[in-house]
Amino acid sequence: MNRPTSGALARNAKPKVRPARPYFSSGPCAKPPGWSTEQLDTRVLGRSHRSGLGKQRLQLAIDLMRELLELPDTHRIGIVPGSDTGAYEMAMWTMLGARPVTTLAWESFGEGWVTDAVKQLKLAPTVVRAAYGQLPDLAQLDWSSDVLFTWNGTTSGVRVPDAEWIPANREGLSFADATSAVFAYPIDWTKIDVATFSWQKVLGGEGGHGVLILGPRAVERLESYVPDWPLPKVFRLVSKGKLAEGVFKGETINTPSMLAVEDAIYALEWAKRVGGLEALIARSTANSAALGKIVDERAWLNHLAADRATRSTTSVCLTLEGADEARIKAIAKLLEGEEVAYDIAGYRDAPPGLRIWCGATVDTADVEALGPWLDWAWEATAT
Ligand SMILES: Cc1ncc(COP(=O)(O)O)c(C=O)c1O
Repeated sequence: MNRPTSGALARNAKPKVRPARPYFSSGPCAKPPGWSTEQLDTRVLGRSHRSGLGKQRLQLAIDLMRELLELPDTHRIGIVPGSDTGAYEMAMWTMLGARPVTTLAWESFGEGWVTDAVKQLKLAPTVVRAAYGQLPDLAQLDWSSDVLFTWNGTTSGVRVPDAEWIPANREGLSFADATSAVFAYPIDWTKIDVATFSWQKVLGGEGGHGVLILGPRAVERLESYVPDWPLPKVFRLVSKGKLAEGVFKGETINTPSMLAVEDAIYALEWAKRVGGLEALIARSTANSAALGKIVDERAWLNHLAADRATRSTTSVCLTLEGADEARIKAIAKLLEGEEVAYDIAGYRDAPPGLRIWCGATVDTADVEALGPWLDWAWEATAT
């Protein structure tokens, strides 16, 4: 493909309106509107996370997450090391192996959990796959096994529709990697035994820490089953045969970044101020609808996710008619250079396309302002 020339750039005029906040990355995602470092409570910085104040702030983060997620008392929630990957692998390493395993994969992150189960834990799981843009048949799963899935496939823009497909009377445990799903979709927690996420997605928090949610059946598994592989200290959730309850009260396994914790508290308090879970879901829905309108109005732009009912409202993945990776990169670079949209080239393993984050911390007006800029970049990169 020829690179855009200055002649091509001159063909169409630049739109007048730029998104006020060009932050459309799918993680770390846009900070909450109005965020600034000055707004963070810094009293705990330089203090021990095990001090009275440290524990109080960690507990506040936990309490706010519970409240905003509308998590029932049956489920525990704690902060663990290693971001979402750390939290999910902690769950895999501590609970799998007790019964057969089914792993679902329809994009890169789900595929990563398959690799862990097959190559690292050597579990010989049943692997249920679908191509990028599709969802596998969720009705055909064997729930006598533990089932691992990604609620929202961040690299393909395909999500599960809800939790209806998870039976109430399952024998196995459900493990949801919910990192780009929490705070964006309603979640029926009675269907979830394990869920994990990290703060840098829908909350616009910082990376580094994972959040682990455990239902009662997951706790039962932890207290009754000892895997026959070694567990590093950062994965250990059980002490003397009992769940390490401290983890769910802010007594973290190792030292957290209290700055990241304060940043998460800021984001959670913002979320409360704007109206809680319902408002977060509404913001993300409005953003993805605004982007959907832009797509519908352009013949050259399409969603990678085939079925509207299972299309992500957070990580929206788009294909551009006939555009190869080089053109996608050129478009993303042009838009970044214009400070119109940062980090919107699709994930490296996904089919070439754009990925535009529509989570709650993004403002709808900024998504709307993107449309004419996409036209501009599309034309500017035409050969
Ligand atoms: C679905 C999904 N799982 C896991 C991860 C990895 O998350 P983290 O970097 O917080 O470990 C991501 C990151 O984008 C993701 O989107």
